Amino acid sequence: MQLRTTVNGAAETLEVGPDESSLSVVRERLGLTGAKLGCGHGACGACAIQVDGQPVASCLLPALKLEGRQVETVEHLATDDELHPIQRAFMAEDAMQCGYCTPGFVVEAAAFHDAWRARRGTASPSRDEVAKALSGHLCRCGTYAAIYRAVIGACE
Ligand code: FES
Repeated sequence: MQLRTTVNGAAETLEVGPDESSLSVVRERLGLTGAKLGCGHGACGACAIQVDGQPVASCLLPALKLEGRQVETVEHLATDDELHPIQRAFMAEDAMQCGYCTPGFVVEAAAFHDAWRARRGTASPSRDEVAKALSGHLCRCGTYAAIYRAVIGACE
């Protein structure tokens, strides 16, 4: 079946199967390997991408649901050679160990950051607000404290 979508600003037309996932499209078809396969059933967040600005678990989202939508992957967060504030903050706080979960956290945190700044300006989110926003993501290395510091700092 034919899928027409926009990924990181580029129009894409692909033949996809009815059971194919959005994760398969970005990783296998388009070579965008930032999103990772972790649990494969929506529990870990490693596969997060943004669809029309909203973070989603791409392992659960059928590829055909991307028809006509705007998809952004972690590869597209930095623009004009400048990192997204969340990417800078993750580096400043050393908010990663093995790094497998990091793209998913960054995609979700970037959406949170952008929405927060639009609504609340430079008011700081609380640790609980950040933890709630990132609750769909698991870090097996346990780097949560640094991740939360990074997100709070990026929002200030
Ligand atoms: Fe999609 Fe874990 S791989 S949520």
